[in-house]
Amino acid sequence: MNAPAAPLLQARDLSRSFRVRRSGGMFGHAAVLHAVDGVSFDLTPGRTLGLVGESGCGKTTTARLVLGILTPTGGEVRFEGAPVPAPGTRAWRQLRRRMQMVFQDPLGALDRRIPVGQQVMEPLAIHGAGARGDRRGRALELLDAVGLGASFFARYPHELSGGQRQRIVLARALILDPTLLVCDEPISALDVSIQAQVINLLLDLQAKFGLAYLFISHDLKVVRQISHEVAVMYLGKIVEQGDPDRLLTDPAHPYTQALVSAIPVAAAARRRPRLILKGDPPNPVDRPAGCAFHPRCPAAVDRCRVDTPVLKPLPDGRLAACHVAHGEAGSARLVA
Ligand SMILES: Nc1ncnc2c1ncn2[C@@H]1O[C@H](COP(=O)(O)OP(=O)(O)O)[C@@H](O)[C@H]1O
Ligand SMILES: [Mg+2]
Repeated sequence: MNAPAAPLLQARDLSRSFRVRRSGGMFGHAAVLHAVDGVSFDLTPGRTLGLVGESGCGKTTTARLVLGILTPTGGEVRFEGAPVPAPGTRAWRQLRRRMQMVFQDPLGALDRRIPVGQQVMEPLAIHGAGARGDRRGRALELLDAVGLGASFFARYPHELSGGQRQRIVLARALILDPTLLVCDEPISALDVSIQAQVINLLLDLQAKFGLAYLFISHDLKVVRQISHEVAVMYLGKIVEQGDPDRLLTDPAHPYTQALVSAIPVAAAARRRPRLILKGDPPNPVDRPAGCAFHPRCPAAVDRCRVDTPVLKPLPDGRLAACHVAHGEAGSARLVA
């Protein structure tokens, strides 16, 4: 058996809180919002970790922490075994060549006044990489790799479709030969008909360049298509993590069960009755005590109100943070 590959990226007990003003009263009052709260994961080269959860659960904050754009208030990020250097330093800029990002809005990521080919080349100039005369050829290679020909070089962003623009953003992200791509909702703004094409392109590029992806989406169905492993986040914490197929066919955490239940499928193919979450997504400033999911959880018991479950392995090897899933809930049920 091969030894497991050394992780490319490690998040260890990663946390980030923000001081915010809670609304109410004339000025509101100060409060602390725990956007990311003790998140740990490993990502090995060439693999994809999917991060999924409702809006506001801390996915983008996790992405920004990984990229070093945001400094953690607790824990750390390690890249190739070493801590990510402080933002703005020379070491950080060097490292940023190896970790690139793709966000939701390709138009916002591009400069409307500059031909897209120039924008694909731009990182080479910024990092002084490659001989000046070779840069154009390298940009053409990347345009080809993302399925756009040389004819796109001189076009402007507004002349392209959303899917084509996202391909340009990808070409630019890849021109410095990164090993990690952080993709934050990269297809959420695209037409459904185009989404699958971009997912297929991401899969092709991963195979071709050996890229690792941290792939973020609020859509479990999308995450499943591309991920080797999936982590489900709820209010700043990972609540379940493991094999995507297993997670979708037999979710362990009641929150994952609700996400799976929300995926439209033919009624006949549904294995469990549809589970509708009660209550609104809670405000992260008022994080419920115990398990943060307990006010919406159909399986919650007394213990869940007071005792925060830790993420730990179930007998089948996947991770879950749930007293009930671990059979450690005792018997007293919450009176709903
Ligand atoms: N700079 C910030 N200042 C205050 N609150 C923030 C800041 N960035 C994010 N948050 C809050 O942190 C929580 C998580 O946000 P985010 O990571 O963007 O979630 P997601 O990407 O999963 O939708 C949200 O409640 C958001 O309002
Ligand atoms: Mg986000």
